[in-house]
Amino acid sequence: MVAIHVLTIFPGIFESFFKYGIIRRAFEKGLLRVNLINIRDSAEDRHGTVDDTQYGGGAGMIMKPDILTKSLNYAFGKCDSKHPKVILLTPQGKKFDQLQANKLSISDEFILVCGRYKGVDERFRELCVTDELSIGDYVLSGGESAAMVVIDAVTRLIPGVLNDFESGLEDSFQDNYLDCPWYTKPKVFEGIQVPDVLLSGDHKKIRKWRCQKSYERTVKCRPDLIKMQNYEK
Ligand code: 6GU
Repeated sequence: MVAIHVLTIFPGIFESFFKYGIIRRAFEKGLLRVNLINIRDSAEDRHGTVDDTQYGGGAGMIMKPDILTKSLNYAFGKCDSKHPKVILLTPQGKKFDQLQANKLSISDEFILVCGRYKGVDERFRELCVTDELSIGDYVLSGGESAAMVVIDAVTRLIPGVLNDFESGLEDSFQDNYLDCPWYTKPKVFEGIQVPDVLLSGDHKKIRKWRCQKSYERTVKCRPDLIKMQNYEK
């Protein structure tokens, strides 16, 4: 069981995401627990203010450190573990990849903080945040969509969520290669035939073909993954 606490000003964004497919199954099997915490519930005025203008001037609002800290303390109160990771989703974070997903999937509990507006006050980062993740080199209007990416990638790795056929360990990226091509019925579509080897019933040959295609596709589409692998070894 992995418990994920999410601090957000838009908890409603997550609702339909949790209702479908593998994420839903993970909830139903009791393998995933997500606690959505509305940062606005920690606001201290009747307007529910969570952000304010920047010192030094400039456009864009900054999320207040006092409100974020209060919301985080509320989250800590709901945690079973003593020192869960506090992960801020931000474009300046470490790139979220399969390795990061693997690491998170074997932790019992972590907290995701979704930034909005221009960003969060630096003192909250300094005092409370243990890790920062980014899902890629582009700017999103908030961390919520990134949090969904993280929750998705992590959930499918929690033991028991996928069945043997779907096994996450065979996924593209787990061995740093992209997936091979896949085919289903019909045998001929728009004049294009399913490769003969897949109809041969020779499972050894099929495995070899899939590895070969995986490798070829990685060289063609993501040569950087092959280079990365050589560096790591
Ligand atoms: Cl995690 N947050 C935001 N706001 N923008 C991003 C991101 C995260 N990752 C890439 N761009």
